[in-house]
Amino acid sequence: MAEIHAQSFFKGWDDTDMGAHIQKDLCFGFGRPLDGFIILSSAADQAEILTIAVDPAERRRGIARALLEITETELVDNGVDTLFLEVAEDNKAAIKFYKGAGFEPIGRRPSYYKREIGRVAAITYRKRLAANDRLG
Ligand SMILES: CC(C)(COP(=O)(O)OP(=O)(O)OC[C@H]1O[C@@H](n2cnc3c(N)ncnc32)[C@H](O)[C@@H]1OP(=O)(O)O)[C@@H](O)C(=O)NCCC(=O)NCCS
Repeated sequence: MAEIHAQSFFKGWDDTDMGAHIQKDLCFGFGRPLDGFIILSSAADQAEILTIAVDPAERRRGIARALLEITETELVDNGVDTLFLEVAEDNKAAIKFYKGAGFEPIGRRPSYYKREIGRVAAITYRKRLAANDRLG
């Protein structure tokens, strides 16, 4: 997880960070060896995507979409109806991905993420999750 994260973000999370997230947050992985993963925190009827990352060599194969689908099913089954996330304003790939997945922008935090030079805003997105109609 740390390796993929380091290849995916300006400042990746190391083994210790990942260990802490595995202990306290919701994590789903895809592939063996791991091709991608998602980490979320959740409380009551809301959840937040803390990160999602796919191995650069495995991108554009639908892995993030599959991870999000698994996550949403699991969240709905556990009573979560609203999903939030924050993404850097200059992260065009992720913004396209989230918009395509039905997220809507609801806020902007200026100068939120550090870059090699300067800082960039974060956009907050929200998605209302459809209730599962499954019986049983
Ligand atoms: C964003 C990210 C998770 C997408 O993972 P992925 O497995 O490549 O995404 P998918 O293959 O499931 O793509 C689903 C859709 O998202 C959009 N998308 C994904 N990557 C894109 C890109 N580089 N450019 C434009 N659109 C993109 C497309 O609409 C795509 O559908 P399509 O391939 O049928 O056109 C991946 O690029 C990544 O790990 N980036 C670095 C980490 C990051 O920015 N995470 C998100 C911020 S928290």
